[in-house]
Amino acid sequence: MMKPIQVGLLGIGTVGSGTFAVLSRNQEEIRRRAGRGIEIAMVADLDTARAEKIVAGRAKVVADARAVIADTSIDIVVELIGGYGIAKTLVLEAIAAGKHVVTANKALLAVHGNEIFAAAQKQRVMVAFEAAVAGGIPIIKALREGLTANRIEWVAGIINGTTNFILSEMRAKGSDFATVLKEAQRLGYAEADPTFDIEGVDAAHKATILSAIAFGVPVQFDRAHVEGITRLQAVDIRYAEQLGYRIKLLGLTRRRDQGIELRVHPTLIPSKRLIANVEGAMNAVLVQADAVGTTLYYGKGAGAEPTASAVVADLVDITRLATADPDHRVPHLAFRPDAMSDTPILAIEQVVTAFYLRLVVADEAGVLSRITTILAEHEISIDAVLQRESAEGERQTDLIILTHDTVEGRMREALTKMQALPTVLAPIVSIRKEELA
Ligand code: NDP
Ligand code: HSE
Repeated sequence: MMKPIQVGLLGIGTVGSGTFAVLSRNQEEIRRRAGRGIEIAMVADLDTARAEKIVAGRAKVVADARAVIADTSIDIVVELIGGYGIAKTLVLEAIAAGKHVVTANKALLAVHGNEIFAAAQKQRVMVAFEAAVAGGIPIIKALREGLTANRIEWVAGIINGTTNFILSEMRAKGSDFATVLKEAQRLGYAEADPTFDIEGVDAAHKATILSAIAFGVPVQFDRAHVEGITRLQAVDIRYAEQLGYRIKLLGLTRRRDQGIELRVHPTLIPSKRLIANVEGAMNAVLVQADAVGTTLYYGKGAGAEPTASAVVADLVDITRLATADPDHRVPHLAFRPDAMSDTPILAIEQVVTAFYLRLVVADEAGVLSRITTILAEHEISIDAVLQRESAEGERQTDLIILTHDTVEGRMREALTKMQALPTVLAPIVSIRKEELA
């Protein structure tokens, strides 16, 4: 029997300890699938005392991650430290040392993926990253292999567990933002810097990776439009419900004639869609492709063992393919490096989407017609209007408008004109809306 493949783990925090636990518990089952044992032989972590406790004598613990990379017996390096700093250096050093790499680090790949994949290609090693998008959901595998026959049209996903957890708890229990965020941190869902979650950056890292794999373009995080949930107001969640919509933080990438849309922002989705009913830390990714039609992938997007499930799947893949001809492996970004496309990522003004608008207006005759005139002048057609009945003596009211699809730049011009009307009494709230039909 072949000797077990030797793995070195860099970072044994939430995902690292989950990976250690899953691999130990399911060792025999995994060996039967991989055709060879997979053994974590070395673990590097700054907190060696905590690492020793987790490992309990089953692997060598070191404080210096470079000692793992330098060890010639290690075949695969698993990077579970996170961030763009030391993690980048270590991944590039592991590649240079001829090791295969597994990482859950979406931030690193979204920002430095092109450099990392090029280095791996040169060294003929694999960089696997199933855990980087949607935790335990095998969405990378699905897009890169399962849907390989298709021309992908769009991918839309709830791909940040922390924000979905916050939105769900706020909607269902009326809980306050800060309390729910603390709970998400306690449960191990949130990033080391939780502003990455709540400001949409983490979802944009993931959407960037999905976009590259779906359309065969380089990773271009700097071209993504990113909005989080911090400015979302409870009143808009309630109005959306009345109109038959849920608000979710959606990551969306869509192929259009002029280029590719790549954006993350709060989005109204019809409540009747399955994806609108994805609650808590669960993730879901919808893919629209020409041959298969719509497919939906659902599961746990964060947490120790769900993420470990994806890390271990990558370890099995590498174990199976380590001896295969590097030219015939599945390409890192689904398309062969010499067949990547230079289709541009569109500016947000060029994006086509529908809108939810909430205007606080003076409750007097002619207000609605002035607003609808501005929308008509910008060729923006209205789908629905809701006006809150004002209480006796009240001189202002909320006017809610749902539009049909329009070019964002046109909507921005119309918003500026509407905002300038003396009868519009507060900053207009605009939230994008997607039917995902
Ligand atoms: P944690 O912060 O829980 O774990 C990171 C570990 O790395 C800590 O134990 C830390 O030690 C250690 N570490 C930091 N610097 C070094 C270093 N120079 N050398 C060795 N060890 C070091 O993070 P997570 O496990 O949550 O996340 C790991 C990665 O997985 C990140 O890229 C994250 O984005 C990604 N991810 C996380 C998910 C989750 O649900 N948590 C889901 C999907 C992906 P110390 O604590 O002492 O600093
Ligand atoms: N912070 C991330 C989330 C972890 O909440 O989804 C999983 O990538």
